[in-house]
Amino acid sequence: MQSLYLIGFMGSGKTTVAVELAEALQIQVLDTDQLIEEESGKTIPQIFSKEGEASFRELEMLVLKKTPVTDTVIATGGGIIERGENRDWLKKNGLVIFLETSWDEIQKRLIDDVARPLWNNQSTDKKALLDRRVSKYKEVSDIIVQTDGKNPTTIVKEILSQM
Ligand code: S3P
Repeated sequence: MQSLYLIGFMGSGKTTVAVELAEALQIQVLDTDQLIEEESGKTIPQIFSKEGEASFRELEMLVLKKTPVTDTVIATGGGIIERGENRDWLKKNGLVIFLETSWDEIQKRLIDDVARPLWNNQSTDKKALLDRRVSKYKEVSDIIVQTDGKNPTTIVKEILSQM
């Protein structure tokens, strides 16, 4: 089967849902952020602080294009859709699932988060970033699932029923 790419904003549950979805389908699971950390030998916050966001986006694109396009569930970083090149690649190669989460819910889920450089950057307007990205997530998605107030098991069931 074609690989399944989970997209959505930070805190939408991509990583957790990916694991459960892969288990349900009995296929492997990957995470682009984890692949970036493994390949670079650095953590995401280290890449952002030492090399900057542009360098992170370059690594992210290289990693995305190396992901297997069959039999894999792939959780992506929230900004994967920032590059038109990535959006084109996703549309062409994957079945893309957008986990749609409201601003209120994202704020609740990430209240104690310290691991996400963009979320923790005081000069980033996170609400504006979400608003700007939503149309890009929608542009590439084959399936959209609303996640507010739902647990991962329910979300996985909804994905499977739409496939
Ligand atoms: C980012 C989201 C993060 C990670 C990086 C940048 C973004 O992934 O890729 O910190 O631009 O939204 P998650 O969506 O898994 O938090």
